[in-house]
Amino acid sequence: GKKLLITIDGPAGAGKSTVSKALAQILSYLYLDTGSLYRAIAYKMIKEKKNSEDTQFIANLSNSLNLHLLAEKNILKIILDDVDITDLLRTEGLALLASRISAIPIIRETLLPIQRQFGKIGGMIAEGRDMGTVVFPNADLKYYLTATLEERVRRRHKELLEAGNDSEREEIRDQMILRDRQDMERLIAPLKVPVDALVIDSTGMAVGEIVAAITHDVELKQ
Ligand code: C5P
Repeated sequence: GKKLLITIDGPAGAGKSTVSKALAQILSYLYLDTGSLYRAIAYKMIKEKKNSEDTQFIANLSNSLNLHLLAEKNILKIILDDVDITDLLRTEGLALLASRISAIPIIRETLLPIQRQFGKIGGMIAEGRDMGTVVFPNADLKYYLTATLEERVRRRHKELLEAGNDSEREEIRDQMILRDRQDMERLIAPLKVPVDALVIDSTGMAVGEIVAAITHDVELKQ
């Protein structure tokens, strides 16, 4: 069938990455994790000891940024200054800084072409906050994946534990509330439900159930 472009937006910890990865595998589609692009800039800032008030650094970013996506099987790897940093980006510290800088217009503009280059071919799951609203408004299928705050905190806590980071639930909760609020209240490309998206509340749902529901929609649409 036809190769579709599918977008999945939603707040932190809603299961977007897990669901997107599974879908990409099953459908043999590419998986584009756009949060990693914002995290990559945060990573660069920490490495180069820059802060978000450094207007010089921010203004130069569109020229100085050497950030690429490299397709490796179904996954798009994040290559910064010729180094694969994909596996270094999943910390809460980077997530918070990513959220702060993602409100800066130049940063969003700089990342736009990097995100869109793979959208033309079709056969992609794009996951983030503004996939269906701004980056891929013409996507074939749009989803907004959410869950209750408690459920999202529980999942993130488990995920961090499995990665060897035991962090306080309270701290995860506070950071998640802060990050979601920042992402929903910013002026450009705020997190919201795209008008033509299907909302899935994944609270109490297994990953397999969500994936099955979406693959069913894909089969009808192909
Ligand atoms: O999805 P993830 O938690 O990796 O995203 C990190 C941060 O990057 C988000 O909190 C958000 O501020 C920003 N982001 C964004 N637009 C996207 C994806 C992520 O602003 N499409």
